[in-house]
Amino acid sequence: MPKIQISPSILSADLARLGDDVKAVLDAGADVIHFDVMDNHYVPNLTFGPAILTALRDYGITAPIDVHLMVEPVDDLISQFADAGANMISFHPEASQHVHRSLQLIKQRGIQAGLVLNPGTPLSVLDEVLHELDFVLIMSVNPGFGGQQFIPHSLDKIKRLQQLINEKELNCYICVDGGVKTDNIAEITAAGASYFVAGSAIFNADDYQQAISTMRDNAEQ
Ligand code: DX5
Ligand code: ZN
Repeated sequence: MPKIQISPSILSADLARLGDDVKAVLDAGADVIHFDVMDNHYVPNLTFGPAILTALRDYGITAPIDVHLMVEPVDDLISQFADAGANMISFHPEASQHVHRSLQLIKQRGIQAGLVLNPGTPLSVLDEVLHELDFVLIMSVNPGFGGQQFIPHSLDKIKRLQQLINEKELNCYICVDGGVKTDNIAEITAAGASYFVAGSAIFNADDYQQAISTMRDNAEQ
């Protein structure tokens, strides 16, 4: 089984003191920081641009940063987030006219590349590009907002994706984003995921360290 990674989504952080809140979740054991980029066009919400990522780097955040682009189009922002210091970049295939080209833009910069599948997007969109991907991010809610309920059908989708990855003998890991909590992470891991985005479950907890270690323990069981 690949290493379990816990990636707090800053969408649920205290935005007035973002740098300190990011430091706090890293001190509490987070592996990666999940950076949700929304453009009020591809999704009905508006969040963070590359200047915020640069500001976090300037504030001394050296941990890996996972940029989830919910924007359309994607290519220009891929370059900007690469310049700002992203370590992983993913986008939604519906938002790029040329998915293969957009993936190459990420990979050419030495950044891990992923595609994000909405709950209504079939696995078949991966047919011609799965071998190019470092990871697939399965959305277990519709994108745009934190604090939504995990959609149970996502478990079946993760299982089918894991089967596909095994059949093709690929080194692609499965990430899950949306409604991940301490009490459902075990079954999501059992389905095949190893990377967990969690916004409200971590940032709304009184004790970040306890929330993250409980998630990790439940996932590793
Ligand atoms: C939703 C975002 C998620 C969101 C997850 O569009 O991609 O990363 O922050 O939030 P929770 O964990 O609260 O469902
Ligand atoms: Zn996300």
